[in-house]
Amino acid sequence: MDQQVDQLQAAAAAALAQAPDLAALAEWKAQYLGDKGALTGLLRSIGQLPKEERPAAGQTINAAKRALEARLAEKTEQLRAASLENALDAERLDVTLPGRPRAVGHLHLITQTMRDIVDTFVQMGFAVVEGPDIELDLYNFELLNIPPEHPARSLHDTLYINEQLVLRTHTSPNQIRVMQRQPPPIRVVVPGKCYRAEATDATHEAYFHQVEGLAVDKHVTLADLKGTLAALARALFGSERTVRFRCDYFPYVEPGVDLAIDCLVCGGKGCRACKFTGYLEIMGAGMVHPQVLRNGGIDPDQYSGFAFGMGPERIAMLRYGIEDMRLYYTNDLRLLRQF
Ligand code: PHE
Repeated sequence: MDQQVDQLQAAAAAALAQAPDLAALAEWKAQYLGDKGALTGLLRSIGQLPKEERPAAGQTINAAKRALEARLAEKTEQLRAASLENALDAERLDVTLPGRPRAVGHLHLITQTMRDIVDTFVQMGFAVVEGPDIELDLYNFELLNIPPEHPARSLHDTLYINEQLVLRTHTSPNQIRVMQRQPPPIRVVVPGKCYRAEATDATHEAYFHQVEGLAVDKHVTLADLKGTLAALARALFGSERTVRFRCDYFPYVEPGVDLAIDCLVCGGKGCRACKFTGYLEIMGAGMVHPQVLRNGGIDPDQYSGFAFGMGPERIAMLRYGIEDMRLYYTNDLRLLRQF
């Protein structure tokens, strides 16, 4: 009997050592220690032994059983720990892996350019205001000295909403709006969208932007206008830029000027972007017409002012050598992602 128990115990211990996981342990337990297990079978067979051998045999078997139970508990503990370890290993985060990049958008080039322009004026003490895209004919034209039959109206291919309302063709109506709202001293810039029924080409769009400016105070002169706008040109394009002021006509300024800058696309030789003139006009400007001051509720005998309006589309063309304005709004990411 002793020998039988020893053999069984050795076989059970060997099998236990091989058990790969907790499920195998359950099987093992049924096979050796369960009700129908091998050890239990031995215990039952004690009855067939001579009476005097029975107590010793019982003790041997029970000792083997306790020993195997102890081993089982130990092995169970081991496998539990190992399976936890495995799970932790499988779920381990490799913090050295490169991250997945997120697609991040950015401001459109024209928005960036408008902010550059506006920031430059803010540094010079100008405030920023805005006005409506849908504008009264009265503000877009009449109060700016452009009555219904005035030839200047044909320069603006206007999108009318009805007899009185237009999509503003420029940001200049805000000159009137600002003057009606606040007394001098006035120093404001007005960024915004503008609309014209244009046939588009390399330098014209039906939808575009302007930044308007207005300064009204006592003793404001043309020299102030030139100094301010030259400072802007230097801030945007560098101190070496060539700036050209010429006489120009706008009904709401007197005198009127246009400011041009040497063409960066062709270096002044002439190209499509500058219409073969070597210069690109980046803004109209002038001294606010006395009647326009009056229309804004300001006495032209006491106050004078200058106004200007520029197109960020053109300014960005110059700064970055973009030859065709239509590229801005065709959403070609190869262009937009460069900025
Ligand atoms: N409003 C003019 C334009 O659209 C620009 C301008 C603004 C000219 C202010 C003079 C004064 O071209």
